[in-house]
Amino acid sequence: MAQAPKPRLLTGDRPTGPLHLGHLVGSLDNRVALQDDHECFIIVADLHTLTTRPRKHEFGEVPSFVREVVLDQLAVGLDPAKVTFYLQSGVPAVYDLAILLQMLVPKTRLEQVKSLRSMARAAAMPDDAMTMGLLAYPVLQAADILMARATVVPVGLDNEEHIMIARECASVFNELYGDLFPLPEAKISQFPALPGVGTGPVGSGAKMSKSLGNAVNLGDPPTRVRDKIATFTYDDGDRRLGDQAPLLAFARAFLGDEPTAALRVELDGGAITLAAAHARVTEAVEARLAPIRERRAALAGEAGLVEEILVDGTIRAREVANVTLQRTREAMGLESLWGGLVAATEARAKARRKPY
Ligand code: TRP
Repeated sequence: MAQAPKPRLLTGDRPTGPLHLGHLVGSLDNRVALQDDHECFIIVADLHTLTTRPRKHEFGEVPSFVREVVLDQLAVGLDPAKVTFYLQSGVPAVYDLAILLQMLVPKTRLEQVKSLRSMARAAAMPDDAMTMGLLAYPVLQAADILMARATVVPVGLDNEEHIMIARECASVFNELYGDLFPLPEAKISQFPALPGVGTGPVGSGAKMSKSLGNAVNLGDPPTRVRDKIATFTYDDGDRRLGDQAPLLAFARAFLGDEPTAALRVELDGGAITLAAAHARVTEAVEARLAPIRERRAALAGEAGLVEEILVDGTIRAREVANVTLQRTREAMGLESLWGGLVAATEARAKARRKPY
């Protein structure tokens, strides 16, 4: 009996920095778990990076980040034999598809998207200087998803509305031109955000984030991991924060619920010093990071390997995208428009007994 095709999954990241522990527990673990039962496409969304970082010196950092985000994902156990890693800007059909989808999305719909406002704010872009590129961010993302005809899209909460827009694009398109796109569905990460390290506002429970500079990166050496974890506090001055303490929220992700509850009891009873608690949490993090670090170093040592994986994947993504673009153009009548022009030109050449 023929096997049912696996559902297509598409997700990925903007190459704005190396991946960190927040990505690991919030999305990478999930990607690894899903890779066997899905046909996976993992995008490195460099065009989306341009929406807030268009300057030449900003893009200058992108090539090394592209390499790092792929390296990080290979190191955590994503298998390039099962997963197609690809570079967004290396798939020209996606630009074409994005333009066609733009015809279907009201501008006011995009103006309501909250994540775009916060991205604009983070990029110091005032509302009245919002670029077309940033406004159309979700439409480009819709093109990424629809070009692969993906149905499963694991993302964080901040991207949920983007996936709704992709879904709207698909359903409006299908209504206007006939059924072509399956409706994608967001699969929202259930894992609570990991608190960031450091002191001051970045370390007081703020979400671990590369832009806040409060992350433990997957490539960090053991001493840096230890020093960063040692910044977690359990009280703020005289008040104990208990379960709300960043230390405990962080510990839960690596020690588990019960050992974290036990740690709390020990801390409250003075049976363990803060330094010893840090050491216990560091040990648990290291148990996860050590094998990742080892694989990362081995992969990084093979010159050209990461690049080859990305090039192979991008060529495959191009094939898939070209098929979808062709079918999109056919459904909209663009292919027959061009075909008609060519046919008339050929007929004229034939009538004049001259090759065109
Ligand atoms: N918007 C995603 C981010 O926040 C990156 C991305 C681009 C993406 N295209 C995608 C995610 C398609 C899922 C599906 O970084």
